[in-house]
Amino acid sequence: MKILALCGSLQAESTNLALLRTAAAAAPPGVDVELFDGVRDLPLFNPDIESRRAAPEAVRVWREAMAACDGVLIASPEYGHSLPGALKNAIDWLIGSGELESKVVAVTASTAGPGRGVLGLRALRTTLGAVKAMIVGGEPTVRSADFDRDVAALVKALVAAIAAARQAEIDAEPD
Ligand SMILES: Cc1cc2nc3c(=O)[nH]c(=O)nc-3n(C[C@H](O)[C@H](O)[C@H](O)COP(=O)(O)O)c2cc1C
Repeated sequence: MKILALCGSLQAESTNLALLRTAAAAAPPGVDVELFDGVRDLPLFNPDIESRRAAPEAVRVWREAMAACDGVLIASPEYGHSLPGALKNAIDWLIGSGELESKVVAVTASTAGPGRGVLGLRALRTTLGAVKAMIVGGEPTVRSADFDRDVAALVKALVAAIAAARQAEIDAEPD
């Protein structure tokens, strides 16, 4: 099972990136959590770009990575009571092309205390609704003594949701 891990922050010392590394370490055997570091390389979304020529290389790489994964884990900060522009831009590049459609997506934010990051995650969930993503979690993860345990629980819930979605697909296939 392959999980694509996406960080909404572009900072080198990102606390959300650290959360994703904790998640990768907590993944059970047979589950590969792969960090996608190409969000920063994407041009600003503009449908004119593709109407004139083929999609830029960074967009192609992004779409291929999304198409190749079984599920997604996003850890993102809140900026200005919303999701970061870079993350919204990355998602916008997938809305027309479909690689994120109906995917199982776990979302969280690494936060310093209760109440932080909630509006950012709400905005992120609204955007993911545009591609009918199946949301897992959706609440911030406070950097407390329970942080590692909470991150591991989110990974477990994501893996279970991916397995359930796979089974539902198999069950829906005609005999
Ligand atoms: C310009 C700016 C705007 C921010 N806006 C918010 C906000 O609206 N709500 C909030 O809870 N935190 C806000 N923050 C705090 C960030 O969410 C916080 O620093 C977060 O840890 C950054 O994530 P990172 O450590 O993964 O880079 C803001 C930070 C910056 C620099």
